[in-house]
Amino acid sequence: MRILIAKDYDGMCRNGADLIAAQLLLKPNCVLGLATGSTPCGIYDRLAEKYSAGELDFSAVHSVNLDEYVGLPPENDQSYRYFMQKNLFDRVNIRRENTHVPNGLAEDIEAECRRYEQLTAAYGYPDLQLLGIGLNGHIGFNEPDESFPVATHRVSLTESTIQANSRFFKSLDEVPRAAVTMGIGTIMRARRILLAISGENKKEIARAAILGPVTPRVPASVLQLHPDVTVILDEAAAALL
Ligand code: GLP
Repeated sequence: MRILIAKDYDGMCRNGADLIAAQLLLKPNCVLGLATGSTPCGIYDRLAEKYSAGELDFSAVHSVNLDEYVGLPPENDQSYRYFMQKNLFDRVNIRRENTHVPNGLAEDIEAECRRYEQLTAAYGYPDLQLLGIGLNGHIGFNEPDESFPVATHRVSLTESTIQANSRFFKSLDEVPRAAVTMGIGTIMRARRILLAISGENKKEIARAAILGPVTPRVPASVLQLHPDVTVILDEAAAALL
C-alpha cells in the first residue's frame, strides 16, 4: 500500500484528481470504477476543473460505479446515478452511454446483479477503482460480515449506514434499506485502487483498515492484500497511523 497524507481535504482531493488524471493520460480509453459519498466530491470538482482547463479528455473513458440504492429512480436527487451526473458526468465530456450505475429499479434485482457483474467483467474490470470508506469500514456497500462477498449482490444496509446516510435525506424513513453493490471480489479485480479517507471521524476506521487484521468485519481491510493500492488521506484521518 502507498500512503499519501495531505494537510487537509483540499490537498487530499488534489492528490486524488492528479492520480486519476495520470490514469487518463496514460490510457485515454481506460475504465474508471467510481464512487459516491461526500469524500470524492472535491476530487470530482478538481477533475471538472482540469477538464475545463483543457487538460483532460473523457471522450473515450468508460465508467462503472460501485453501487446504487434499491428503489430510487435516476432522477431522485439521492440516487447515485443523479449524484454522478451532477458531480462529474454533466461537467466533463464522458459519453452517457459509456457510464454505468446499477439499476436500483430493476424488477428482478438478482438478475440486475448478475447483469452488472457481467458488464464489469466484460470491461476486464476497472483500470483504476476509486473508493471511499464508511464509518464501519464498508467499501461500496459491502457491510461488515462473516465473509467477503465475491460478486455484485443485493445488500441490506446496516443501522449505522442508514443513520450515517440519513444526513442526505429529509428523514430517516426516506433512506433506502437496501442497495446493489459490487462485491469485494469485483473490487479486488481492479488493476489499481485509490482509497480516499478524510476527516477526524474516520481516523479509527482508517487505522483498522490499513494497520489492523484483514477481516470481513472491516471490509476495507481486504485492500491490504491487493497489489496496487494508494490510500490518500488528510492529516485528520491519518492521525492514528
Ligand atoms: C456510502 C457509499 C460508499 C461511501 C460511503 C462513505 O455508503 N456507498 O461508497 O464510501 O458512503 O461516504 P462519505 O464519503 O460521505 O463518508
